[in-house]
Amino acid sequence: MHVHRRRGWEIPESEATPESAALARHGLARRGLLGAAGFGAIAAGLATRPAEAAWNLFGAPAKLQPLKPLTAKHDDRYVAGRAITPEMNATTYNNYYEFSDSKNLYALAQALPVDPWSIEFTGMVARPRKIAFDDLMKQMPLEERVTRHRCVEAWAMTVPWIGFPLAALVKLAEPLGSARYVTFTSLADPKQMPGMDSPFYTWPYLEGVTMAEAANDLAFISVGMYGKTLPPQNGAPLRLTLPWKYGFKHAKALVKIGFTDKRPRSFWENLAPSEYGFWANVNPAVPHPRWSQAQERLIGTSEVVPTQIWNGYGEFVASMYDGLKKERLFA
Ligand code: MTE
Repeated sequence: MHVHRRRGWEIPESEATPESAALARHGLARRGLLGAAGFGAIAAGLATRPAEAAWNLFGAPAKLQPLKPLTAKHDDRYVAGRAITPEMNATTYNNYYEFSDSKNLYALAQALPVDPWSIEFTGMVARPRKIAFDDLMKQMPLEERVTRHRCVEAWAMTVPWIGFPLAALVKLAEPLGSARYVTFTSLADPKQMPGMDSPFYTWPYLEGVTMAEAANDLAFISVGMYGKTLPPQNGAPLRLTLPWKYGFKHAKALVKIGFTDKRPRSFWENLAPSEYGFWANVNPAVPHPRWSQAQERLIGTSEVVPTQIWNGYGEFVASMYDGLKKERLFA
């Protein structure tokens, strides 16, 4: 018998409630509810809870993964124009569905081994191959840049990332001239990632951009933050950072960089195509079907500020979209 179980992104906004009320109403265990909830319910409910209050939901981690100091020359082309988010907040208020639908998954993510690590170049490349993360680090031009990070759930952070331009990684991968898109695949290991037992998601987490977007100066691969290597919960050892797009484009724990001539369908697009599309550029004037994108809540202070088109990075990226007005650029 077919049983239709309504998913989070099908819950109308009027029915979305903070987590505690929802738990009581449905009489569900935390994982059960959240496993069925998805992105939308998180946005409507959990995002209104301060990170600090959730700090100990899973208990303190048995052991924090050691982070190595990592410094690089500061790139002053990018001016955030707002205070850097306290490190404690940026590293304990996360989205990483492979571990949990909760924001305070950091303790769970600590168990993920991230060293050694390797990345595969696949698809339309001159030489499909694997490269060790340590070898990659020797070849990439490291820099630090402070950029704004805007989640589709209407919260934002300002993070001092350390990493290298995505363009440098693309060059190293030697794509064929016929490649039109770059894909980014996250690690999917159910033995290490307890959130993967949810039946609603199609793993692995996958994202993609056009070759032009990948060549843009603002497109970045982060390998560190706050003067250290990335913590597992933020996507160690390497994650995508595209500051003019909603945060769900920023695939974490990358294991594969692929090149293709077909537009990829991402993890969130697979789940809810009417809500999450390929482009996902930030625009305050284009609401999510279930909530406004006009403002954002700054994690750490809870200050609410207006959202800017292209997340304020129009001077770097807007011209890439001049010929694409018919595309759904902002969802
Ligand atoms: N990458 C993977 N593999 N799995 C995820 O669930 N969540 C995305 C993105 N990258 C996600 C992911 C979302 S929705 C956001 S907003 C950012 O990671 C959050 O990054 P942060 O936790 O470092 O702030």
